[in-house]
Amino acid sequence: MTAQAIGVFDSGIGGLSILQALRAELPHEHFIYISDSGHAPYGERDEAHVLARSRAIVSHLVSQNVKALVIACNTATAATIHLLRTEHPELPLIGVEPALKPAVALSKTGRIGVMATRSTLASAKFQALLDSQAERATFVVQPCDGLADAIERSAETGDFTKNIALCARYTGAMGLFGTEKDQIDTLVLGCTHYPFASAHLRALLGPEVQIVDNGIAVARQTKRLVQTVPTEVLPAPSAEGQVSLFTTGQPQTLQAAAGRWLGLSAAVKKLSI
Ligand code: DGL
Repeated sequence: MTAQAIGVFDSGIGGLSILQALRAELPHEHFIYISDSGHAPYGERDEAHVLARSRAIVSHLVSQNVKALVIACNTATAATIHLLRTEHPELPLIGVEPALKPAVALSKTGRIGVMATRSTLASAKFQALLDSQAERATFVVQPCDGLADAIERSAETGDFTKNIALCARYTGAMGLFGTEKDQIDTLVLGCTHYPFASAHLRALLGPEVQIVDNGIAVARQTKRLVQTVPTEVLPAPSAEGQVSLFTTGQPQTLQAAAGRWLGLSAAVKKLSI
């Protein structure tokens, strides 16, 4: 009998940024990663679509006997985590939300940019988070239509022209970045795809602007929860955890992204769910 894996899913390759943090924090755990790129992007679709897809993927991962499940997508977390928790009370479920609280702690100018999908920014969950921090800083929120999709495509082609143009357009629309009074000194990446554009954002915004995401916090939270799960077989502390990669879309996209950004060479399998 092998040790149970931790399930991780996203609309596409974005969740690999969370998987990277999870593997660093939990190097002996096995992971099953699902990219739902056959039904993406989530961020410009309605909540019913995201909920139906998330339910299908969670049911599949539960059938694979995962011991915990990470929704490595801000959009899916915002739309579904409260319902999925009710539907799977036995399953440790971890979600990801834009890192507003860490950004407040870091910002000196008190002006914070938030890039995310249209759907995340429109969600009740994000509004509640924003309200909870509203007295502590000024937030400039920017829906970034097309950016997750462009990042998805660039993983395979290696052509980052569109990513750079969209990053320039969206950060330009947010106002002035910098460390002077009234400038945005901290940028929250509220979509798990965006860390794969952080080098372009850094080049556009300069070295002083702080770029934050919640990858490490999600990984630490997962570690805490996993330690409390009673499991039949523990992962061998000496062995490196295995990663199984699945996609509902084109295997070559996930294959290229996993290789390019995580150095993973495991063959991606096609999944029909
Ligand atoms: N990676 C997803 C997120 O964190 C969404 C990308 C999309 O499908 O629009 O929000």
